[in-house]
Amino acid sequence: MADLRVNVAGVEFKNPVIPASGAFGYGREYEAFYPLSKLGGLSIKGTTLEPRQGNPGPRVAETPSGMLNSVGLQNGGLEKFLSYELPNLVTKDTRIIANIAGATIEDCAELAGRLNGTAVDMIELNISCPNVKHGGAAFGTSCESASAITAAVRKASDKPLMVKLSPNVTSIADIAKAVEAEGADAVSLINTLLGMRIDIKTGRPILKNNVGGLSGPAVFPVAVRMVWQVANAVKIPVMGMGGISTWEDAVEMMMAGASAIQIGAALFSNPYAPVEIIDGLNKYCDDNNIKCISDIVGTVKPW
Ligand code: SIN
Repeated sequence: MADLRVNVAGVEFKNPVIPASGAFGYGREYEAFYPLSKLGGLSIKGTTLEPRQGNPGPRVAETPSGMLNSVGLQNGGLEKFLSYELPNLVTKDTRIIANIAGATIEDCAELAGRLNGTAVDMIELNISCPNVKHGGAAFGTSCESASAITAAVRKASDKPLMVKLSPNVTSIADIAKAVEAEGADAVSLINTLLGMRIDIKTGRPILKNNVGGLSGPAVFPVAVRMVWQVANAVKIPVMGMGGISTWEDAVEMMMAGASAIQIGAALFSNPYAPVEIIDGLNKYCDDNNIKCISDIVGTVKPW
């Protein structure tokens, strides 16, 4: 068996496979399929200071090889996470990444500060949600605002800080460099690509929010390209995500420069995707005489 451990910003994960925020809840439903201890870690549903109902429906639509969502950060709020979800998660022997989001810089700094001293292993600051009017992608689409929110959260938090980046920008590498300069310990990418579908019978958008975030295999090549560009632009580690559904995708994403990977939309059609990917990575390493999975990170040989 190969060594699947990876280290991201000083946090050791037992393997590089992590269900992505918003696709796995807090793991409760998935425990019917396998113990959460099999996973490298999990990133919780984006958590805000106060509970949120999210956007009105319909807020999910199918697309060729993917899906659109406009959930709008529905979640139970920080208090519920701390009192109900976190005490359960700490018993699961896996790393806990707290994905946080807020409408203002102050909200995000307060969220981060209130996670100090808890069992959370890492913060994933979401500056890239395309589905909310305030906050979300508003922070992630300019270097100035990305820098400002990263600096404030860095100051408030004593946890390793990973910033989740938006692909809906001209240069994601520039945003990555901006957050690195303000003390981010890692970046994760890509969040969803802004998309739209229209019901041709009614002439109305399928999503009540009109637009939403595209994920799933359709976005995978875009995600690989962006992970490769960012990994070459920054010194901090990169967590890669966007359309990964097989172990082959995971290898490709790691060769592009991802130290670990997150699985999102694939979970909705195959809840076993993370454990199948872990098994596939093990076999791939054994078949290719690779001792440590981290040896393949960034090994792509560009022409
Ligand atoms: C959502 O809740 O709208 C999705 C979160 C995100 O895309 O960041």
